[in-house]
Amino acid sequence: MIEMHDVYKKYPNGVMAVSGLNIKINQGEFVYIVGPSGAGKSTFIKLVYREEKPTAGTITVNGVNLSKIKNKRIPYFRRQIGVVFQDFKLLPTLTVYENVAFALEVIEQDPPAIRKRVMEVLGQVGLTNKARMLPSELSGGEQQRVSIARSIVNMPKVVIADEPTGNLDPETSWDIMKILEDINVTGTTVVMATHNREIVNASKHRVIAIEDGKVVRDEQQGGYGYED
Ligand SMILES: Nc1ncnc2c1ncn2[C@@H]1O[C@H](COP(=O)(O)OP(=O)(O)OP(=O)(O)O)[C@@H](O)[C@H]1O
Ligand SMILES: [Mg+2]
Repeated sequence: MIEMHDVYKKYPNGVMAVSGLNIKINQGEFVYIVGPSGAGKSTFIKLVYREEKPTAGTITVNGVNLSKIKNKRIPYFRRQIGVVFQDFKLLPTLTVYENVAFALEVIEQDPPAIRKRVMEVLGQVGLTNKARMLPSELSGGEQQRVSIARSIVNMPKVVIADEPTGNLDPETSWDIMKILEDINVTGTTVVMATHNREIVNASKHRVIAIEDGKVVRDEQQGGYGYED
């Protein structure tokens, strides 16, 4: 599903954020990416959805070689990947319903089909009754649920999340994890960068630890392993 081969990323300011990554993530896996601040976790995530280009190396996502992808194909490629951020990134002037519908790839879908799909995913994240509200009228956890609904509306094979619980209290964080676990159980690959030790230690999945842009640990059913 995601394959990186000798991937390096040097930012224009000279910082080498990722330094020789070799990672293979298979369809259906749930993977935590852990590591200290500045280790390169977000850079890894950005490389996967082609927000950043590697300085060297090969990245293949969902069968697409990202070195060869044409610029005009990038929006199409991104719609095949669900992305969830710490700060939700919802469009503030659109309702919950509209935020999700906006992300839906509308190819040969009639309006009733669009409505059905949007309401389906809002049901999946427990927000059917908030469809007409604006993001500013929702709690942080609810906003994150909208952003997860948006990320899965096109039925992506992989959802990548960069600290999705970073802005949420512990209880709300568990609700978000339950939704991500449910998504994974249906066969969707989930890759999540996190600093949340309790979550990583409680729901055992593969853990890839990155330090200084390199993989220092890769364990099935691993633990968080840091004291920070
Ligand atoms: N756009 C950028 N331009 C220059 N340097 C950057 C940029 N983004 C990140 N960096 C640098 O690259 C390194 C890795 O950053 P990255 O954001 O990937 O770390 P991270 O593991 O996600 O950290 P955190 O846990 O704090 O989110 C850091 O040294 C950071 O300062
Ligand atoms: Mg980060």
